Amino acid sequence: MISLSVNGTQHTVDVAPDTPLLWVIRENLAMTGTKFGCGIALCGACTVHLDGVPVRSCVLPVSAAAGRTITTIEGVASEQGLHPIQQAWVDEQVPQCGYCQSGQIMSAVALLERSPNPSDEEINQAMAGNICRCGMYGRIRKAIKTVAQSPLQQFDPAQVQEVQNG
Ligand code: FES
Ligand code: FES
Repeated sequence: MISLSVNGTQHTVDVAPDTPLLWVIRENLAMTGTKFGCGIALCGACTVHLDGVPVRSCVLPVSAAAGRTITTIEGVASEQGLHPIQQAWVDEQVPQCGYCQSGQIMSAVALLERSPNPSDEEINQAMAGNICRCGMYGRIRKAIKTVAQSPLQQFDPAQVQEVQNG
């Protein structure tokens, strides 16, 4: 049995220790927002946060995530609504087919949490591992910059609600 903390909830799963975290999230925990793309750490579709750091869950053994804090796309929004990055994705009409987008958003959220006003170079580096077959890179960059320049960039739910309420 392996204990996992996912989006603030404790789970116990009965899987082999070398099972990829992605399979456990999708199959055992039924959270299907995190996607399978390549399975070899090349596309970023499976990106989740481990202790706030984006990781490729398709190649991470579930045993390596035990006792650590896992956040998936399902845990990004709050009771107050969408995360500012998610809202920017909607406003800038980033998704096309949408398949890569949960991974893209997880990488963007992690970037802005460690660097609230990233340079173009920081954005390029942070997002380089997330492939979009629809080629929405321009809109992704624009959405990240929109949030970086926004008063909502601190991601404080109370502040977000205050600004949204005017
Ligand atoms: S599915 Fe994990 S990086 Fe492609
Ligand atoms: S939106 Fe289709 S792969 Fe990125």
